[in-house]
Amino acid sequence: MTAEEKAALVVGVKFELPPYEGKYLRGTGGVTYPLGRFGVPSIVMMDGPIGLRLYDYKTTCFPAGILTAASWDRSIAHEIGVALGEESLDMGNDVLLAPGMNILRNPLNGRNFEYFSEDPVLCGLLAAEYINGVQSMGVGTSAKHFAANNQETNRLDNDSRMDTRALREIYTKAFELCLRESSPWTVMASYNYLNGTYTQESRELLTDILRKDFGYKGLVVTDWTGKRNTPKQINAGSDLLMGGSPEQTEDILECIKNGSLKKADLDKAVTRLLELVLKCPANNGNEPSYKPDLEKHAKLCRESAAEGMVLLKNDGVFPAKPARAALYGVYSYDMIAGGNGAAKVDPPYVVSLAEGLENAGIKVDSKLRGLYEAYARFVMQDLKTNHVINVHVGDPQMPELDVEKDLIELSEPDSDMAIITIGRISGEARDRIHNKEFLIQKEEIKLIKDVCEVYHAAGKKVAVVLNICGPVETASWKKYPDAILCAWLPGEEAGNSIADVMTGKVNPSGRLPMTFPINYIDAKGAENFPYNFISDRANESVVHPERRGLPLKDLAYTDYIEGIYVGYRYFCTEGKAVSYPFGYGLSYTSFEYSEPIVSIVGDKLSASVKVTNTGSLAGKEAVGLYIKAPLGSFKDKPSRELKEFGKTRLLQPGESETLNFSVPVRQLASFNSEKSRWETAKGDYTAYFGANSEKSEAEATFTVTSARNYPVSRACEPAVR
Ligand code: BGC
Repeated sequence: MTAEEKAALVVGVKFELPPYEGKYLRGTGGVTYPLGRFGVPSIVMMDGPIGLRLYDYKTTCFPAGILTAASWDRSIAHEIGVALGEESLDMGNDVLLAPGMNILRNPLNGRNFEYFSEDPVLCGLLAAEYINGVQSMGVGTSAKHFAANNQETNRLDNDSRMDTRALREIYTKAFELCLRESSPWTVMASYNYLNGTYTQESRELLTDILRKDFGYKGLVVTDWTGKRNTPKQINAGSDLLMGGSPEQTEDILECIKNGSLKKADLDKAVTRLLELVLKCPANNGNEPSYKPDLEKHAKLCRESAAEGMVLLKNDGVFPAKPARAALYGVYSYDMIAGGNGAAKVDPPYVVSLAEGLENAGIKVDSKLRGLYEAYARFVMQDLKTNHVINVHVGDPQMPELDVEKDLIELSEPDSDMAIITIGRISGEARDRIHNKEFLIQKEEIKLIKDVCEVYHAAGKKVAVVLNICGPVETASWKKYPDAILCAWLPGEEAGNSIADVMTGKVNPSGRLPMTFPINYIDAKGAENFPYNFISDRANESVVHPERRGLPLKDLAYTDYIEGIYVGYRYFCTEGKAVSYPFGYGLSYTSFEYSEPIVSIVGDKLSASVKVTNTGSLAGKEAVGLYIKAPLGSFKDKPSRELKEFGKTRLLQPGESETLNFSVPVRQLASFNSEKSRWETAKGDYTAYFGANSEKSEAEATFTVTSARNYPVSRACEPAVR
């Protein structure tokens, strides 16, 4: 292969340009360069985590990642992965640019909905199942964005500054765990800086940590950056430069000539690229041939969405099948199925809450429906003329309709209960704004209060549905309604899934994968985020604070002062109150846990607990295994940390299931930055069982009799399974 050919291979192709124009489906994330002389085909990479993003084709919009995580169910992540693999084959996709695995460090990250959790164990283990699902269809994945890409504002150049312990225990941990249980064909290096170096140019991150420590053998693709320091990127371990420009190809040739890029480094990248191509569907004929069963996918959407919805409050409301319901809130009639940006999907339809309830035999107040539907049409028309709306950027937030209390009073006799939907949309390239998007707005509070007053006076119940991309403020208003259901962004079957949960067809078993704080600012580090930064452009990822005279803090750099104390690790350790803790969620039945059995056997902690359905309805229970470790050589450790999780099958009343957990002793360790090793302390440990991080259902203690230290390298680590 000539140097020119090698350089061409490792840089993505601008397929919007001739001669590629029209050859690939619009919306495709990127493609690689074909080399006809060697029969090397071009491979196609499409977004994204919750469905294929294509401009001219309707594809299934699966539930958002945050909802999948809320199911605490590996099989759901796996099945969604398989379905996405099937749709990829249909569309001629070789590598799905998913799953999104960044930690939900802050409730306002615009891309939280694509990701899984504030906890690296929940995130990493679910991501592995998702990857195994997609790849079982012979389609690749891209575990992204490696690493510490936790804000969208100035995302191309923001420097995530953190200590090594946080990097190891939180921000790379999900990837480490995921790589034990799966082998994603690609890992995507993020846009941001990490402690002063672009992740794409960090040899420490891409070679030392990813390959040597985590044992990764696949290809590293850069997130869709323009030209950076090309030799540094390739030397660091970035193998494929995306989206790619002729400038970068020329740069490689120039750098090979002047010696700043070693031939051996380039060859390594070329080898990995060819190894990837060999595995891809494109190498096996390039003809999209698979016809997925889209009805089956819609069914999967409906069922999986219901599994991840979290019932936050239920004062005798659900399960219920009222004959008539009044729906308030514009999003009751125009549900948000998924978010915006690279993860945006254009589904064939989205079932609204109104439609879902009607499908379940509940009559929806038609006068209100007419009013809201007309309003939604009007608002969208208005927004379309004033905003850029396309498949990529996605839909803006719709303002709430101001409904007069008189109207609520007038329509109350026509319904047996009221349901109010609060919607929040977000997406790539912009973070959410605390004041406008985290807080429930004045008109929304007024609506909740007015509807509650009127319906409660008539002895009727009110429920709130949260159709949200990430946490919102709940503490100030949760006392008003009788029930609150967090439905997240539930995918195209939205209304049907919500109706299934409300009517009891599905007993809710979703549990929060992220803490809902009382006040945004309660979390340690919350002030180190651009939380009220209102950008002057709709789609703002490039802020250039220096050039624009803006403060550097949280724009040019973000200090992760909380270290490892992210989410519940902070709230539980400090004993600080939250609105709903990590792992929280109600069921229509109740469960009892037996006395757990816990012991260290060799290099594993083995634990089991029997869960019995003690209520009167069939249901599933998600169980987290949290561990409190002795301090050992550390000054501090979180008061508990999730180490494993499981979920029972559907248990009939009176039925039991024993959940067994196995955790490598190495995973009980904390990272000693000075010695660069994992240390499992000697001493007494407590194991807590229960989904909720604040309240355990069963506890047991066990002892690690001698301290165990583990080098970072995976080569030194015993196999997990
Ligand atoms: C996003 C990635 C995405 C890529 C290709 C980037 O802007 O950060 O998540 O896969 O674009 O569309």
